[in-house]
Amino acid sequence: MARRAIVAANWKMNGDLALVDAMTAGLKTVALQDNVNVVICPSAPYLSSLVTQANVQSLNSAIAVGAQNVSEHESGAYTGEVSTQMLNELSVKFVIIGHSERRSYYKETSTQVAHKVNAALSAGLTPILCIGESEEERATEQTETVLASQLQPVIDEVGIEKFIDVVIAYEPVWAIGTGKTASSEMAQETHQFIRQFLAQANESVAAKVPLLYGGSVNASNCEELFAQADIDGGLIGGASLHVEQFKTICSAAKGK
Ligand code: PGA
Repeated sequence: MARRAIVAANWKMNGDLALVDAMTAGLKTVALQDNVNVVICPSAPYLSSLVTQANVQSLNSAIAVGAQNVSEHESGAYTGEVSTQMLNELSVKFVIIGHSERRSYYKETSTQVAHKVNAALSAGLTPILCIGESEEERATEQTETVLASQLQPVIDEVGIEKFIDVVIAYEPVWAIGTGKTASSEMAQETHQFIRQFLAQANESVAAKVPLLYGGSVNASNCEELFAQADIDGGLIGGASLHVEQFKTICSAAKGK
């Protein structure tokens, strides 16, 4: 069974044109293991420059560009939104959907997240669907219920077969930007739960979906996390703003 690994950089509302240049120049010499994709997700205004720079630097085809969000609507009067068609026109291949910051600050519901995943898949984009529990939910042993409640509406809307083109990022909210990483055992246990949950709907699809871990991943802890049986790479925030550190993380990932 070949399951690809993915290391995705989530720059959030950080970075600038200088980082676009530095990252694309740095990635020219990154050493990737077999069956690994790298995805850089800057803020929307930098997508076009990133695609252009990636072409100028003739980056390895395993390196792609992703957006941090997309509208569930095709077009029309939605001020401030970006459509799947616009991303396609820029040769953006991936899109992060349902990040916990969007769920909490912008009140995105799991139903809306499901609509966005559907829109992305229909447009041929690969969604990086983010799920994860809060500190309180973990403390009160609701982690599995919460993850199931975030996944089920998406399965219901797009159908489990389409998950063959979905990437899932498990990000415990309490580990994001806090320096508190889940232990590799805890992360593996939760990833295993997610894969089993998908397997109840379709075993062969579940075996192929890349499951990324996110939350304070850095150059020191990535190797141990990526070595876990159900962890297929990471969604990297803070550490993805530092070219050399990010390259180290990319080199640690390996397809399974
Ligand atoms: P972090 O962010 O690596 O800074 O914790 C991860 C994310 O939110 O995607």
